[in-house]
Amino acid sequence: MIRAPLTPKQRERVLRAATSAPSKHNTQPWWFRWDGDDLEVHIDPERVLPRADPDGREAHIACGAAAFAARLGYASLGLGTDTALLPAPHEPLYAARLRVVGAAPDPRFETLYWSLPSRRTNRAPFRDTAIPSLVLEYLRDAARDEGTWLRVVGREPAYEHLLTLIRVATGLEDDYLREERAAWVDAPDARHRRDGVPARSLGPRPQDPTGAVRDLAVGRDTPGRGTTAFERHPTLAVLETRDDTPVQWLVAGQALLRVLVTGTRYGVAASFANQALEYPDLRDEVASEAKHFGTAQMVLRLGMGTEVPPTPRRPLSDVVGPRTRHV
Ligand SMILES: Cc1cc2nc3c(=O)[nH]c(=O)nc-3n(C[C@H](O)[C@H](O)[C@H](O)COP(=O)(O)O)c2cc1C
Repeated sequence: MIRAPLTPKQRERVLRAATSAPSKHNTQPWWFRWDGDDLEVHIDPERVLPRADPDGREAHIACGAAAFAARLGYASLGLGTDTALLPAPHEPLYAARLRVVGAAPDPRFETLYWSLPSRRTNRAPFRDTAIPSLVLEYLRDAARDEGTWLRVVGREPAYEHLLTLIRVATGLEDDYLREERAAWVDAPDARHRRDGVPARSLGPRPQDPTGAVRDLAVGRDTPGRGTTAFERHPTLAVLETRDDTPVQWLVAGQALLRVLVTGTRYGVAASFANQALEYPDLRDEVASEAKHFGTAQMVLRLGMGTEVPPTPRRPLSDVVGPRTRHV
């Protein structure tokens, strides 16, 4: 059957889905281009953080998440897609191409699409209710369906060891890293910007600064922020991939968003405690010794969440290119 091309409204729906994806410090390190009804996802090198993300690993994760969100957008229009990661070897910043195919989309995707707008990184305390084990199973399935492993860190020594690695990494942060972050997190010009993390999304300052909540504005004075005790035993999980290549970073991003929106559906909120992944030796220690996985890509703090405000996004006109091919 011949299908009519996407209308401008339908294109907008796909792009709004894509740009709702999470990204480090809300840098939104992506731009998009239409090729007919197929969507190209590109990494924007100007938005990759030189200090915190020198290899662009986290920018790839963000673009993988954007690609997965775009897949959900297509699915909500009844369209199945085929995803090619790094489809042009001579263009390393061309992250993914989503091609519309004749087959119907995965029936679970439409439901997930409706959870996209309420997904948030939640740096507020979680409720003192455990995540139901069946829901944890759904999160594991979501990661597995995208070719990764969500390792829920359950047993005591492993849990304590991960917390220790997070603490050690927090202690290693230098001024350069904090300066870079200050340009994005509660930045002086935040009110005029549509990127970065605004003060309202920082959450309260944790009473115990050695816990699993990452205080993105540590050492800075943010008026009206307040200090609170957080839940004592958040669920910690590590998203692991097979190896540490750009393709696997994109795979991790797709899985990350699938896990997060699956959680959103069931009231599970997440924030990230990735500090230990920013130091190669600690990152190796975070990973498991699992045979088929064993590369840590994200550390998630998970729990039953309360509502938190959204972060801004740039207008679509800023992120849709004709841009030149070789950036
Ligand atoms: C690769 C990646 C790394 C991130 N690292 C952290 C982190 O270490 N700490 C944190 O609090 N948030 C982290 N975030 C969450 C971002 O700050 C968040 O996605 C962004 O501010 C947009 O907000 P939203 O997720 O609510 O849409 C990370 C997100 C991504 C995709």
